[in-house]
Amino acid sequence: MKSIQLQHIQKSYGDTEVIRGIDVTIEAGEFFALVGPSGCGKSTMLRMIAGLESITAGTLRIDGVAANELKPSERQLSMVFQNYALYPHMSVEKNITFGLHTKGLTKLEQRERCHEAAETLGLTDYLKRKPRELSGGQRQRVALARAIVTEAPICLMDEPLSNLDAKLRAKMRSEIRQLQRKLNLTMIYVTHDQVEAMTMADRMMLLNEGEVQQIGKPLDLYNKPANTFVASFIGSPPMNLVPVKRSEKGFVASDGRQFQPNVMTTVETATLGVRPEQILPANEDVTFYAELKNIEVLGTETILAFDVGGVEWLAKWPGQWPLSIGEKVACYIDPKQMSLFDADGERIEPRHPKLFEALEVFQ
Ligand SMILES: Nc1ncnc2c1ncn2[C@@H]1O[C@H](COP(=O)(O)OP(=O)(O)O)[C@@H](O)[C@H]1O
Ligand SMILES: [Mg+2]
Repeated sequence: MKSIQLQHIQKSYGDTEVIRGIDVTIEAGEFFALVGPSGCGKSTMLRMIAGLESITAGTLRIDGVAANELKPSERQLSMVFQNYALYPHMSVEKNITFGLHTKGLTKLEQRERCHEAAETLGLTDYLKRKPRELSGGQRQRVALARAIVTEAPICLMDEPLSNLDAKLRAKMRSEIRQLQRKLNLTMIYVTHDQVEAMTMADRMMLLNEGEVQQIGKPLDLYNKPANTFVASFIGSPPMNLVPVKRSEKGFVASDGRQFQPNVMTTVETATLGVRPEQILPANEDVTFYAELKNIEVLGTETILAFDVGGVEWLAKWPGQWPLSIGEKVACYIDPKQMSLFDADGERIEPRHPKLFEALEVFQ
């Protein structure tokens, strides 16, 4: 098991800054997801760690040792790409052992490692086949097996599941996670899919335009998004947001709807955020009435769409709700569940009123 430390890592292509100073330590044995929209710099970051791309500034350490100048083969890592390009004319077995000849292993040792990896991944019956005689999922497993046989303690994966259909992706997510645990790998897993990051990772880092937005456990990002970008990237559907202004009672949206978030702050304008499942059907207390614009009854849950301050909000209610479009529904939001973001989109942390008063006096 090896740790990986990034210290002020930067990458520029000419004048274009692609990675803007990343600091993070990935612990030995950790499953770390690197997530963000297309073009934010995920592959560039991974390729720098792998040694396939030079590092413009900053220090990369692998197990404490400066690794910027190490060759890829000296970094003790394996890599699985989105386009895992198997050799079509070679058997599955040859494909799996292809990289091993450089490691000075005997034919017998190579075969042993291959059979062990094939066993782990359920490929034993397919070793004599050619890649074209495999399904998409089996081909993906061959690519994984190729990484495993190297027995490298660090594994880097760049969107390895994006060529698979949704059902197979869900299955492979779980297989990769189990494999990582079993082999005790330090894993850096790149994906643009927040669901993959949320479900697989011990910790994750969300990038946007080469800048770190937040690093933490999946539920840290979900429950306490550091800014409006994180709030709207994480979650399905993502957090509902609406611009609000200070009012006598709390905050008011452009349509006159009032909110009283349990957040002490002096800001005049803000963005209010609420997760879809935190907008509940009202019993006694009503936060607002909303005219139903659309409804999706999914069986286990119902998604309701309505307008709040000129923005479409989605609510997620458990169960099946046979409501009609145009109907007025009464909604309740626990004030503790409302997030507030300042004019720069940064999260305003809820404070205890007493502490808040003290700070006011102090200022
Ligand atoms: N060789 C290159 N020369 C110039 N720009 C590049 C090069 N490689 C990547 N980029 C740019 O760097 C940014 C990040 O790319 P990439 O790391 O591939 O993003 P991601 O993997 O998150 O989709 C993109 O804007 C891309 O156009
Ligand atoms: Mg990429």
